[in-house]
Amino acid sequence: MTDLELMKAAQKAREYSYSPYSHFSVGAALLTKSGKLYTGCNIENASYPAGNCAERTAIFKAVSEGEREFAALAIVGGKEGETSDFCAPCGICRQVIAEFCPKDFKILLGNEEHYKAFTLEMLLPYTFTSEDL
Ligand code: THU
Repeated sequence: MTDLELMKAAQKAREYSYSPYSHFSVGAALLTKSGKLYTGCNIENASYPAGNCAERTAIFKAVSEGEREFAALAIVGGKEGETSDFCAPCGICRQVIAEFCPKDFKILLGNEEHYKAFTLEMLLPYTFTSEDL
């Protein structure tokens, strides 16, 4: 699967976003090393902290089905149906990504027209991991 196809899968997943409170919809597409695709969207709740981000939805779906080896993650988001130039993962999602992915893990940010690849280390340097425990 190409980077563009992964971005398109994230955009498609965004269509399922349940975000009646923020009106900010996010989609994520996670590619496993074995070539499987897991997608996720943000799912909000009337009790705000109970909501979940798109990235964690995708990661938790994959891990709960036995997948722990990931190749890349694409994230697309924006307000009121518009697509942001750049929807960066929140801090909690970065930490969850770091639980399962190495420093050089590829994260694609942007939209279908313009996107850029980052490594996890670029987005979350000096990570706290199981090795620190
Ligand atoms: N959101 C995500 O899904 N991923 C991120 O990394 C940033 C924030 C969601 C959470 C909430 O539903 C909405 O965007 C506004 O914060």
